[in-house]
Amino acid sequence: MRYTPADLGVFTPDEARRNVPAGNGDPRTNVCLAWELLYRLEPWLYDRLARVERLHPGVLDWLPRGADRIAEVGAGTGRLTMELIGRARRVVAVEPARPLREILARKLAAAEHGSRAQVRHGFFDQLPLADDDADLVVACSAFTPAAGHGGEAGLAEMERACRPGGCVVIIWPNHVDWLTARGYQYVCFPGPMSVEFGSCAEAAELTGIFYPKAAGEVRRRGLRTVPFEVLGINPPRDLVFKVLPS
Ligand SMILES: C[S@@+](CC[C@H](N)C(=O)[O-])C[C@H]1O[C@@H](n2cnc3c(N)ncnc32)[C@H](O)[C@@H]1O
Repeated sequence: MRYTPADLGVFTPDEARRNVPAGNGDPRTNVCLAWELLYRLEPWLYDRLARVERLHPGVLDWLPRGADRIAEVGAGTGRLTMELIGRARRVVAVEPARPLREILARKLAAAEHGSRAQVRHGFFDQLPLADDDADLVVACSAFTPAAGHGGEAGLAEMERACRPGGCVVIIWPNHVDWLTARGYQYVCFPGPMSVEFGSCAEAAELTGIFYPKAAGEVRRRGLRTVPFEVLGINPPRDLVFKVLPS
């Protein structure tokens, strides 16, 4: 409920075409739209969440270490990007929201191996990448079957940018069946998972913003470590992948 239709003006025309295809929408009832507005209006809040909402270590271990070129789409503020720069000669991080790109660029400038990464503007369905550009093309918590957030055109673009014999990976997929129907294989890593906030106050504040249904319980129990069961979402413990024919 942080935003209203009056905030939609923050979108560029390209962003508006993808996020409000009908020309109007209400972020008070459309959660996807509310997230997209937050990336542009309060990007530091997203970064605070992504810093503590960590991926399962099994996911990171599963990703190839010997890739020469990696492309990541929907990189956000770099939850995955910062893990990728140590394992490739070159990483291209594609991200449409300028405020998120700026945070990511600042993090990379301060990081060891940060100069291996380039941050570029782009969308799933219009990637600023050549054919066969990368050995690994990956998206984390960004791709959905909806046209504005990937869809058929976005998946085709990811596969176009991946070299023959390379791998396309979607981490924390939200529509596994849609992807397995398109030849992707599913991998899931076991074990309990929680979000480790910096303090009880931060847990109450950020769950209030991002997971309002869980916020009451987090406050009442004074939680700092919040199991994903309490947040009411699947933990970031899974991925789908496809190795393209050589
Ligand atoms: C939940 S965030 C995930 C960011 C980051 N990958 C992470 O794991 O923290 C979703 C990301 O997808 C990006 N995104 C939304 N629509 C997109 C599109 N059409 N093409 C590429 N990225 C998109 C958003 O700007 C945002 O950075």
